[in-house]
Parts: sequence; structure tokens; C-alpha cells
Amino acid sequence: MAAAALRSLYFWITFILSFNTLALAQDQNQFIYNGFLEAKLHLGGNATIHPDGLLQLTNTSERQQGYAFHPSPIKFNTSSSQSLLFSTYFVFAMVPGSLTAGGHGMTFVISPSMDFSEATATSYLGLFNTSNNGLPTNHVLAIELDTVESPEFKDIDDNHVGIDVNDLISNDSAPATYFSEEEGTNKSLKLASGNLTQVWIDYNGAENVLNVTLAPISDPKPSRPLLSMVIDLSPIILESVYVGFTASTGTITNNHFVLGWSFNKSGKADSIEVSKLPSLPPPPPLSPLSIPPEKGNQKLEPTIIVSVAALVVVLITIGGAVYIVRKKKYEEVYEDWEREYSPHRFSYKTLYKATRDFKDNGLIGEGGFGKVYRGVLPSSDQIAVKRVSHDSGEQTMKQFVAEIVSMGRLRHRNLVQLLGYCRRRGELLLVYDFMPNGSLDKVLYSNIRPNLNWFQRIRILRGVASGLLYLHEDWEQVVLHRDIKPGNILLDAGLNGKLGDFGLARLYDHGSNPETTILAGTPTHMAPELLRTGKATTSTDVFAFGAVMLELASGRKPKEPGQVDLVNWVIDCWNRGAILEASDPRLEGLCVEEQMELVLKLGLFCSHPNPATRPSMRQVMQYLDGDAKFPDISPNSNLLDAFRSSYNEASNTIMAFSSLIGGSSSSHTMSTMDSILVVGR
Ligand SMILES: *[C@@H]1O[C@H](CO)[C@@H](O)[C@H](O)[C@H]1NC(C)=O
Ligand SMILES: *[C@@H]1O[C@H](CO)[C@@H](O)[C@H](O)[C@H]1NC(C)=O
Ligand SMILES: *[C@@H]1O[C@H](CO)[C@@H](O)[C@H](O)[C@H]1NC(C)=O
Ligand SMILES: *[C@@H]1O[C@H](CO)[C@@H](O)[C@H](O)[C@H]1NC(C)=O
Ligand SMILES: *[C@@H]1O[C@H](CO)[C@@H](O)[C@H](O)[C@H]1NC(C)=O
Ligand SMILES: *[C@@H]1O[C@H](CO)[C@@H](O)[C@H](O)[C@H]1NC(C)=O
Ligand SMILES: *[C@@H]1O[C@H](CO)[C@@H](O)[C@H](O)[C@H]1NC(C)=O
Ligand SMILES: *[C@@H]1O[C@H](CO)[C@@H](O)[C@H](O)[C@H]1NC(C)=O
Ligand SMILES: *[C@@H]1O[C@H](CO)[C@@H](O)[C@H](O)[C@H]1NC(C)=O
Repeated sequence: MAAAALRSLYFWITFILSFNTLALAQDQNQFIYNGFLEAKLHLGGNATIHPDGLLQLTNTSERQQGYAFHPSPIKFNTSSSQSLLFSTYFVFAMVPGSLTAGGHGMTFVISPSMDFSEATATSYLGLFNTSNNGLPTNHVLAIELDTVESPEFKDIDDNHVGIDVNDLISNDSAPATYFSEEEGTNKSLKLASGNLTQVWIDYNGAENVLNVTLAPISDPKPSRPLLSMVIDLSPIILESVYVGFTASTGTITNNHFVLGWSFNKSGKADSIEVSKLPSLPPPPPLSPLSIPPEKGNQKLEPTIIVSVAALVVVLITIGGAVYIVRKKKYEEVYEDWEREYSPHRFSYKTLYKATRDFKDNGLIGEGGFGKVYRGVLPSSDQIAVKRVSHDSGEQTMKQFVAEIVSMGRLRHRNLVQLLGYCRRRGELLLVYDFMPNGSLDKVLYSNIRPNLNWFQRIRILRGVASGLLYLHEDWEQVVLHRDIKPGNILLDAGLNGKLGDFGLARLYDHGSNPETTILAGTPTHMAPELLRTGKATTSTDVFAFGAVMLELASGRKPKEPGQVDLVNWVIDCWNRGAILEASDPRLEGLCVEEQMELVLKLGLFCSHPNPATRPSMRQVMQYLDGDAKFPDISPNSNLLDAFRSSYNEASNTIMAFSSLIGGSSSSHTMSTMDSILVVGR
């Protein structure tokens, strides 16, 4: 009897409790979740809910993307900005995947849709992808908690909070800090610390102010928000929207957790009792180096004392040996003249540690110049380290280092940033920003299907063109790249194209005899006059860029054994009045036809054997942006005929030259004598 009564009581209690949560959850005005067991959240991507109600948006596997939404829409009265109001509060934790760095971050989002399955991981935070980022039709408001500095989105640092309207480029952002009431000052706060952190987001349409406030879990809500932005959200937020979270990882990762969440559109969102929140999973097992504390105390036997003494002697000897070996291991060359460049110099030890001893599993590339390794600096910035062997005299080295440092000052979103260098005996190490998606040739000429889509290709082309225009015309000196080819175009997390390796062609030659080699570049991308005169110009860079345009449009290499070369083939298609037949079959016709036609024709004219006929990078940019109209040239015109015959004549020279130097039409880079910088414009 008693047992039955108890069971019935238990039933009613459970029933009432669950009814209560449900009632609250379904109230369109407000909800509180202490953990998410009952929440019936709409989950997607890699998001999961733990048995204790903890919401996990991503774990520490690479390139994860997860999202979670309150399942029913929130209805806003958007008829006047006055009446739009909301307030939300949540507790999150980002537990980084490695000791040094966490990434990428998470967002709180208000969106007309809760399908984020096509959003991209990495710097896109699982919020947008390359094609919808920035569209005014998104009607998305997001508050980003971002732990990686992504220059493509103009991020201010690798630990910031931003207000994003339809775009990952934030309308307002600030390094993560909070106002400590107790101390009366701003204190910094590491987002990916693994600690519980509170966020309040308050919007009031009557004042048109959006406030974002952060604090560690131990603190009350600070009176001063971190971000306070004047913005009218009524044109952005639609009448029926979903609210939730997105998160992503890249090559650096976080576990992204949300522990509790409340939302209110009729008043301030309530805070949550910390004691009711689910707990974080225990941290991963300690490394084998940490020895568990010893149990009980043992008497020290004399033999033990002797062994310990012997051990100490052995350890000291080993220590001494290790010291000498380490000294040798980290040895570098540093000369007086380098002092002025010291801010640009990395110690070998730093690079050695960052790349984990230059182990082969960190190898990300190998080219004509040497091996490239991926590394992570103590600041958690990811780098690529290029080890170039050289054997040049002091004078050339001095000049080269001066130029390298000078190139470190080049700043453009489509140039791979050179961060610095280090010198060892017979070896130079160059440190660059790490590009997570590798080089264009690896993607374009791989069997990956679907391959890059048209929008990605055109964006890469525009990007590289603007980077090259900057080198040619917009910097204080004219910089020639000299070796433009898909292998030297690198792709960042968002698949934006960035030019890398400028000027390196020059280094290669320092050890060799100037009489025998006077050229730089890759034969298939070298202009005929460069082969004749050995003199690189902006126009020879344009020639190489033209080849890249044709490659991206057609998906073909400039020359492949047993095939008509790319230029002749595109001219053939054009003459047949069917230039679009030259487009990459892997695009399956999915491209903007006018753009494809333009890229093929423009690519051809950049590849013109006569430098005077080639456009400048400024003109290329104008054509690509639609600011200038590409001239009408009809099929089988004299112009095309003349083009073809002089091209073929020039190609014969190239072939002859290639066989002369023993190279085939290889993609290997040859060397040069000239300086990279053409001083004075
Ligand atoms: C993450 O989710 C995607 C699809 O949502 C899936 O393909 C992938 O395997 C998941 N990753 C892991 C590590 O579970
Ligand atoms: C992340 O979750 C997936 C399953 O969704 C699992 O396969 C993977 O091993 C997890 N990664 C880590 C680092 O726990
Ligand atoms: C929306 O707000 C306007 C102005 O404040 C008001 O006139 C209207 O009745 C509201 N609509 C609803 C459905 O509450
Ligand atoms: C981007 O996401 C939208 C939906 O949000 C989808 O329609 C589109 O195909 C996606 N684009 C890419 C390139 O993945
Ligand atoms: C937010 O920024 C985007 C571009 O970054 C801009 O188009 C938009 O007008 C801005 N919106 C507001 C409300 O400031
Ligand atoms: C996490 O919180 C503890 C206790 O408040 C604090 O001592 C520690 O510094 C925090 N860790 C980080 C990385 O901020
Ligand atoms: C935003 O913060 C400011 C400064 O503390 C405050 O005056 C204002 O009322 C806040 N607005 C909202 C909507 O919370
Ligand atoms: C504290 O942070 C707020 C918000 O970022 C800023 O407006 C304010 O100037 C800061 N105060 C100090 C003393 O740094
Ligand atoms: C929403 O705001 C109202 C009015 O301030 C308050 O009574 C209610 O408790 C709030 N609800 C939540 C879930 O924060």
C-alpha cells in the first residue's frame, strides 16, 4: 500500500515537474534551461546532449561544426522598432583541445532558419559559408565569441566578442574583458580557458541599444557592458525567428559547451542558479609525466641511498651531455649586421619547439626550395616554416635578408604574411602565416569531387589579382612576384586565395653560377620575353597570372603530355564559337557563363606573347570587377590568328629552352639573379 502510494506521489511530482518545464519551454515569451535534458533542442552537425543535460556543440576533432536551437519560433513584433525587445543569458565553457590554443569559437544567433547544416566550420563558426556570408537577405544577428584571429573577417585578435549582422565581419567587437565591480576595473577574460563564463545580451528597441556583457561564473552581472552598440534591429530581425547557438573547430579545436540558457522577450532574462547546472566532463587524463602521489611512507634502506647517489651522478652526467647536445641542436647564425632586423628574427629553438622538432608528421609541403612544416607558437598562432638550404656569401645574404624583412612589411589580405626568419649554418628558415587549406594546385588537380565551385574559383582569382595589383602598383616599391602558379597560391580557412613565396625564386640562385642560370620561374608560366632576355617585369607576372586564370576556368594544366596545350585549345574553342566548351567539366556547367567567358578570354590575353598586348593588373582587376568592358573579338578574327601564330612561335622557343636547361615543361621553379624589389617606380 505504502509503496503504491509513494509511487503514485512520485508519478505526480514527476508529471508536474515535467509539465512545468514544458509549459515554460513552450511559452513563446521566455524560457529557462538549467541543462538541456527536457529542452528538446533542435540539434545539428556535431552537436550532442550529454546524459546529464550538458549541451556540447563540438568536440575537439578537427573541422567540426555544431548547432542547437530552441525548437519553436520566437514571434517578434517588428512593426515598429520601439516594440522590439529581448534579453538572453547563458553560461558556456570552451575547453581547448591542446594546451596552447583553442579554436574556433561559438555564436549566439537569431535567425529565420534553424538549418545551419551547410554552414562552414573553421573561421565561419558554423554560422555562414563562403556563398552566404555577408548577404543582407540572411537576416541573421549573431554575437560571436571568437578564439582565432581570422584576418579575412578583420578580426581584432584571437580572444574577442563581436556583434555580427549578416556577416562574420563584425559591426562592433572588443577583446574579451569584463568590468569587475569589486575592483572597479576592466579585467581580461580568456574565452577558451575551460572556465565557466556568463554572457548577457540585452536589446531594447526603445533605446536602440544592444548590450553584450561578459563575466566569469563567480561574478554578478557587471554594471558596464563590454559592447554597447546603437543599432536598429527591426529591419534585421524578422517576425518569426529561431534562437540558438553555433560553433566550429578548425585545425585548432575547442570542446564548446553550453550549460544553461534563459531567454525573455518581455523583460530581463533571469540568471540561472549555478548549482542547478550540469557539470563539465572531467579533463582528459594527465600526461604520463605526472606521477601519482605516493601512498604510505617507507624506511630508506642504505642500498636505496647508495642507488640514489649513483643515480644523481648519472643524471648530472646526462644533464651535462644533454646541455651540450641542446646547445648544438639550437645553434644558429647571428651576425652583427642582423641586429637591426632582430624584431623579425625567430630563435631556432622557438621554431624547433613550434614544429615539434621538425618531425615528418608536421610536414605540409615540399618544393623546389625545401620543406615546409606546420607549427604552433606559444602564443597559439599557427605558422608555416619553410626550411631553405642556401650557401651564399655574406653580401648576398645581407641583401636577401634586407629584402625579406622589407617584404614582411607588405600587408594585404591576399598575400601570405611573412612573419620573420631565422638563420642557421647553410640554412635559412622563413616563417609565414599558416594556411589551413594548402595550395591551389593540390585542390584543383586532385580527384576531390565536387571540386572548387565557380564562386570559390572566381573569388580566388579576384583575390590573387588584387594581391598582385598591390605588389605591382600599390606598395611603396614595385614588387615582382616572379613565380605565380597554382602551387604558390595558398588557400586560407575560407578558401580565399593568397599569394605566397614571393621573391623566393631569387634566393635559389645564390649558390649557383650566375653565368649558367639567369632565370626565375616555372617554365609553363614564363613569358617568352622572360626566356629571351631574362628580365622579369610586371608584364611577365601578368603572363603567369593569365595561365592561372585559364587553369582555374578549365581545370587543366597549361601543358600536358599528349594534349594540345591550353592556350591553343581555348583559342580553338573560341574560333568554333563555343568558348564555354573550355570550361572545367567538373563544374558540370554550374557557373556564371558571362564570367566564365570573361575569365577565359582575359586569361588568353594575359598569356599573349607580346607584352604590350597584355593588360596591366589594374586593367585585369577592372575587367574582373565589371568596371571595364572586355573588347569584343569575333571568332576567327585576324587578331586571334596573329595571336596563335606568334604564340606557337614563342612556344617553340620555350620548348627549345626547356630542353637546353634539361628541364621538361616542369612545374619546378628555376632560379634568378635579379633583385625582387624594383626600386623606384
Ligand atoms: C560531424 O558531423 C558531420 C555531419 O554532420 C559528419 O559527417 C562527421 O563525421 C561528424 N564528425 C565527427 C567527428 O563525428
Ligand atoms: C568527436 O565525436 C565523434 C563522434 O561524433 C567521435 O567520432 C570523435 O572521436 C570525437 N572526437 C574526440 C576528440 O573526442
Ligand atoms: C506591434 O506594435 C505596434 C506598435 O507598438 C502595435 O500597434 C501593434 O498592435 C503590435 N502588434 C501586435 C501583434 O502586438
Ligand atoms: C551556403 O549555405 C546555403 C544555405 O544556408 C546553401 O544554400 C548554399 O548552398 C551554401 N553554399 C555553399 C557554397 O556551401
Ligand atoms: C554591419 O556591417 C555590415 C558590413 O560589415 C554592413 O553592411 C551593415 O550595414 C552594418 N550594419 C549595421 C546595422 O551597422
Ligand atoms: C579559471 O578560473 C580559475 C578560478 O577562478 C582561475 O584561477 C584561473 O586563472 C582561470 N583560468 C584561466 C585560464 O583564466
Ligand atoms: C546598455 O548598457 C547601458 C550602460 O550600462 C545602459 O544604460 C542601458 O540601459 C543598457 N541597455 C540595455 C538594453 O540593457
Ligand atoms: C572598460 O571596457 C569598456 C568596454 O570595452 C570600455 O568602454 C572602457 O573604456 C574600459 N575602461 C577602461 C578603464 O579601460
Ligand atoms: C521575463 O521577464 C519577466 C518580466 O520582467 C519576468 O517576470 C520573467 O521572470 C522573465 N522570465 C525569464 C525566463 O527570464
